[in-house]
Amino acid sequence: MTRKPNPAPATRLAILAIAAAFALPSSAAAPKGEPFGTADGKTVEIFTLTNRKGMKLRAMTYGAIVQSLETPDRDGKTADVVLGYKTLEEYIKDTPYFGAVVGRVGNRIANGKFTLDGKTYTLALNNDPGGIKCSLHGGLKGFDKVVWQGEGIEKDGVQGVKFHYVSKDGEEGYPGTLDLTVTYWLTDDNEWKIDYSATTDKATPVNVTQHSYFNLKGEGNGDILDHELTFKAAKFTPVDAGLIPTGKLQDVKGTPLDFTTPHKVGERVNADNEQLKFGGGYDHNWVLDNQGGKLALAATIHEPTTGRTMEILTTEPGLQFYCGNFLDGKLTGKSGKPYNYRNALVFETQHYPDSPNQPSFPSIILKPGKTMKSTTVYRFSLKGGKP
Ligand code: BGC
Repeated sequence: MTRKPNPAPATRLAILAIAAAFALPSSAAAPKGEPFGTADGKTVEIFTLTNRKGMKLRAMTYGAIVQSLETPDRDGKTADVVLGYKTLEEYIKDTPYFGAVVGRVGNRIANGKFTLDGKTYTLALNNDPGGIKCSLHGGLKGFDKVVWQGEGIEKDGVQGVKFHYVSKDGEEGYPGTLDLTVTYWLTDDNEWKIDYSATTDKATPVNVTQHSYFNLKGEGNGDILDHELTFKAAKFTPVDAGLIPTGKLQDVKGTPLDFTTPHKVGERVNADNEQLKFGGGYDHNWVLDNQGGKLALAATIHEPTTGRTMEILTTEPGLQFYCGNFLDGKLTGKSGKPYNYRNALVFETQHYPDSPNQPSFPSIILKPGKTMKSTTVYRFSLKGGKP
């Protein structure tokens, strides 16, 4: 066996420096947008954010969609934990809001109507749970289906992407020009942090949220029934057969919606309970204990086989939890696997559904001269030994 002679000390140092630079992925530079196809005649760009712990997030200017989110498990094996497609065309063709920002008003507005300052506004009816029509997630062409402006950013070595969209007065039936910025960060504490900020020139309802579908085993890797959930929420907003809140707040105690202590999704999802029947499973808004508008822990999600744990922190008063009851295997994901019934979990931090028609709920009306600000963090860690 022949051995190469050892390099001189100076050369050795140079080699070590180069090796170190490659070992630590540099998060110091602002990410650059790369072309990802065309929508509405505009080039869609995708940005790749990395951190120093091996996480990677890819987000595009179409719908501010997070296309992938890679994070290691307890064996150091990385998986993509959000559902999505490989190509832009698939997102344009058919998506149940995979990874997108939804709005101007996320979730449902009863009968697609609301009255503001004495004027009634009519929105498109694009959803009908239980055969009862409503407006869902901003309408026919909500914020999930438009091309935003994107800009890669960097602060203190942390990479981010800033998405900006101006929604016209009257767009999808909503009053006022809404100027909206959504910024994603990927911190070295393994946090996907989202900052929302909006202003308007006329009073308008605003309730934007992120609609990523999570499977902490990895997208396409089966159902989510073993995921354990803990919510900091003693109440929820019960709904009618059309999934519209009745306006009441109900204690979760004694119901299958009680996640004040950890419970697996599958444990009670098929329980004989009217609320679960209406939703076809969990599809409800939890009233978070933290109503003060300060960032606080809202939920902890734990997947025992991989150890992946996701904490959700938010300034919002509500958490819509939906467990993929409408997924039916017809959509095929980015790794070629079908997305079947209950293969993902969605956690939408937001104000309560149908807020414009519910005077007792916290208001979502934004007025000129004011700025709507909201922050949500999805924080990843590893917990527990192998089950
Ligand atoms: C709603 C579900 C709906 C889903 C769309 C969720 O926010 O709560 O009822 O089906 O979005 O995929």
